[in-house]
Amino acid sequence: MPESGGAGRLGRTLISRAEIAARVAELAHAIRLDYGGRLPLLVGVLKGAVVFTADLFRAIAIPAGLDFMSVSSYGGGSRSSGVVRLAADLSVSIEGRDVIVVEDIIDTGRTIGYLRRNLATRHPRSLALCVLLDKVARREVEVPVDYVGFAIPDEFVVGYGLDHNGLYRNLHDISVLEV
Ligand code: IMP
Ligand code: MG
Repeated sequence: MPESGGAGRLGRTLISRAEIAARVAELAHAIRLDYGGRLPLLVGVLKGAVVFTADLFRAIAIPAGLDFMSVSSYGGGSRSSGVVRLAADLSVSIEGRDVIVVEDIIDTGRTIGYLRRNLATRHPRSLALCVLLDKVARREVEVPVDYVGFAIPDEFVVGYGLDHNGLYRNLHDISVLEV
C-alpha cells in the first residue's frame, strides 16, 4: 500500500477533538476502575491506533505497560481484504499479563478477531479489547469488544490516527473521507 498520494476529499467532521478527548477520558476512567492494582499491558495496534493509544495510556493514570504490534490486511484502498497478517510482533511476553488491545476501528471484525486468536495462544491472564470506533453495520465476524469509544455509521473516516493510503493520520478531528 503506498504511503502517500491517496485520493479522496476531506468531508464533514464526524467526531471533534473535544468529543474524542472527553470520550478517551471516560474510557480511561472505566479501565482504571477495572484494572487498578493489576499492572495492565496496553497493546496498541500500529499504525492506526498509535494516537488513541498514546492518549489513552496517559489518561488511565495507573501503573501500566505499553507495547505495540502491527498487522496488515493484504491490499489497500478503503476496504480491508479480510486476510490479516502479523507484520511486527510484540517485544515482550504477555504470559500471565492482563492485556488490553487498543485498536482504532472495528469494521468487519477480521483484524480484531485475528488479534484475539493470536494473543490468546500466548496465555495472557486476561485479554480485553478497547476500540475507539465501531462500524457496527459492517460486522462479518462477531468479536466481543470490552470498551468502545463511538459507534459510527458505514462511512470511511480519517484522522486521529486513521489513514487513507497513509495520509490524514495527524488530523485532530475524525472526518469523513469522500472517496
Ligand atoms: P476489519 O478487519 O474489517 O475490522 O478492519 C479493521 C481495519 O480496517 C482497521 O484497523 C483499519 O486499518 C481499516 N479501516 C476500516 N475502516 C476504516 C475507516 O473508515 N478508516 C480508516 N481505516 C479503516
Ligand atoms: Mg488498523
